[in-house]
Amino acid sequence: MDKKIRVLNCYDIFVGSALIPKISHLVNTEKYSGIIIITDSVVEKHCFPEFKKSFPKVEKIVISPGERAKNIETVKKIWQKLLTYGCDRKSLIINLGGGTILDIGGFAAATYMRGVDFIQIPTTLLSQVDASIGGKVAVNFAGVKNLIGSFNQPVAVFCDINFLSTLPDREFISGFAEVIKHGLIANKKYFDFVTSKKPREFSKKDLVEIILGSVKIKAAIVNEDEKEAGQRRLLNFGHTIGHAIEALSQDTDSPLLHGEAISIGMVVEAKISGVGVSKIKKALANAGLPVDLPDFPREAVLAKIKTDKKSEKGKINWTLITGIGKAVINQPVNSQTIKKALT
Ligand SMILES: NC(=O)c1ccc[n+]([C@@H]2O[C@H](COP(=O)([O-])OP(=O)(O)OC[C@H]3O[C@@H](n4cnc5c(N)ncnc54)[C@H](O)[C@@H]3O)[C@@H](O)[C@H]2O)c1
Ligand SMILES: [Zn+2]
Repeated sequence: MDKKIRVLNCYDIFVGSALIPKISHLVNTEKYSGIIIITDSVVEKHCFPEFKKSFPKVEKIVISPGERAKNIETVKKIWQKLLTYGCDRKSLIINLGGGTILDIGGFAAATYMRGVDFIQIPTTLLSQVDASIGGKVAVNFAGVKNLIGSFNQPVAVFCDINFLSTLPDREFISGFAEVIKHGLIANKKYFDFVTSKKPREFSKKDLVEIILGSVKIKAAIVNEDEKEAGQRRLLNFGHTIGHAIEALSQDTDSPLLHGEAISIGMVVEAKISGVGVSKIKKALANAGLPVDLPDFPREAVLAKIKTDKKSEKGKINWTLITGIGKAVINQPVNSQTIKKALT
């Protein structure tokens, strides 16, 4: 059942179930002077016991769960621990966790002694279909998300669907927004398949196919554009509006998860694109994702969009769809159209 996808001609992403015991057969872990695992306290509880069966002798660095820990202070603690454990340039770091751990652990691996090898083991759906592909690693700084980081490719990635069973439904469904986005920007058949059932109704075999499908779509885009000069922007569909809503929701009593905000963003951006709005809205709602704009002042949404990292010299580069399974980058949109889509 296990499958693998090659990324940037340099490493493989393995997708399957019960993959952990296979790691040492697929990667030469013997050649390293030591193995250190970086994880968070929630993942430690749910996923580390399984991991430890295959790697009984690893040193462990456990950080607090969630986005708040994704900062340079936490990286300093990781660097200090790596030093205390006597890690050298021949050490191997294994990041076990969601996108937060992969981003911060990947950043620590890129910078400690000018870079040590690392393996990514994503344990959330979002990180299996998104954060683990493409080598972007970063931390937040001065209130700006992912401001400090680099491109750093791992030795390998292992997406084990067994880890997803302990993931809260809300997190799982949120990850599905990126899955649906991949269908919308690149493959109608895939979109039809991933929206044919509710997320938790898919069998394990289906789930492997879904993750594999998403990894293939993102990997193909990354292969064309490693450093985000162009085509990688296809992945931004839903994210211009989505990021604004996500940011604004953080100051309310009901902050949205990333995928939830992207779901709403995709509905608005489908409106701007002028295609597939009702079909897309229905598919996202059926998955259990929110589709309606929260009650934010439209001016606040518009103001947030303008400060988006994706804009250049104040100009927003929209990624829009021209049909289900087809997207285009760098589209100009006039403010009337944006305002109309936000009503
Ligand atoms: N590098 C990239 O290309 C890229 C792409 C997309 C997102 N990201 C980053 O990913 C982060 C979001 O990732 P995320 O959604 O995975 O969030 P996360 O890593 O914060 O995980 C969400 C929560 O789920 C818990 N968790 C993780 N695995 C679990 C499991 N198997 N069972 C139970 N609980 C589990 C975590 O402890 C955490 O509390 C953001 O920081 C974002 O910037 C990076
Ligand atoms: Zn996203």
